[in-house]
Amino acid sequence: MIEEKIEELKRKIDDMTRGIKSSKSLAELKMAFFGKQGEISELMKGMRDVPKEKRPEVGKIINALRDWANERFDTLAETVKKIELEELYKAQKIDVTLPGRRREKGAFHPNTLVIRELVDIFSGMGFEVYEGPEIENDYYNFTALNTPKDHPARDMQDTFYITDDLLLRTQTSAGQIRVMENKKPPIKILSPGKVYRSDDDATHSPMFGQMEGLVVDKGITLCDLKGMLDEFARKIFGSSVKTRLRPSYFPFTEPSVEVDVSCFECGGKGCRLCKGTGWIEVLGAGMVNRRVLEGCGIDPDEYTGFAFGMGIERIAMLKYGINNMKLLFEGDVRFLKQFKD
Ligand code: DAH
Repeated sequence: MIEEKIEELKRKIDDMTRGIKSSKSLAELKMAFFGKQGEISELMKGMRDVPKEKRPEVGKIINALRDWANERFDTLAETVKKIELEELYKAQKIDVTLPGRRREKGAFHPNTLVIRELVDIFSGMGFEVYEGPEIENDYYNFTALNTPKDHPARDMQDTFYITDDLLLRTQTSAGQIRVMENKKPPIKILSPGKVYRSDDDATHSPMFGQMEGLVVDKGITLCDLKGMLDEFARKIFGSSVKTRLRPSYFPFTEPSVEVDVSCFECGGKGCRLCKGTGWIEVLGAGMVNRRVLEGCGIDPDEYTGFAFGMGIERIAMLKYGINNMKLLFEGDVRFLKQFKD
């Protein structure tokens, strides 16, 4: 009777495991036979009804069945796993002959390119970079630069005030004072940074970049300024470019000059870029005003210096032939892509 049952079970297991293709259904099937309520377990429970003297014999038979079934499931599990792995590999196969997908490469913004080039040129001449704060107080941005309250030159720049005393710096010149207060000559610094003015049209933006330079030492003259500017202009605009100084006014320099470079587009003959004049204005400069030096505790009878300041966007526009300043602030990828090297 029990022997028959066992034979039947064997056949059943044989039949049911035959078509199995996944480890999951195989495991489920195994549970159905071996689990607590599984058929093999039921068979064990049936031992209770077997007469005592027959139990060892029947027990042996059931054990043999268990071993047989276990082995059967184990071998099957291995085969099924192999098949599954093969299928997985097939699905994950990489076709190395497919063309690659090109990744978009980023590029530097023209402003960054200009700043980097300027820093490179001037560090080659021994300048160190100093970066001042963008939120300044009135003293550093104006008063210490010889522009006290009510000075008419304050009107040259429309200022964003935060409080009566705090403001967004309108010029990187503010950094000159911070440097001179903290360092005794010789001083040779370059100060790039963002500045802010309440100004917004085709050639002005409420935020733009400036690059400031300051040299203070014994015996510095306007001649040194001119020589350095010549070198700078040749490096950034081309080896045949010349500079010229025109008298100007800034409260913190005396004398003050406006610096032009000979037009690198037409060589000075006159064209659209230089508006027919042959010259292009690029920066403001001058000899540091005695009063500014004095205010920073530097003796103007012992030391002299020159300073200069230029607009980053203006240099970028000239250098790359950009006709609208707004392009430099809009972040349009179609525009920016053109500066990839
Ligand atoms: N700070 C001036 C401006 O924003 C530019 C400038 C002119 C800076 C003359 C200087 C300088 O250092 O000497 O318009």
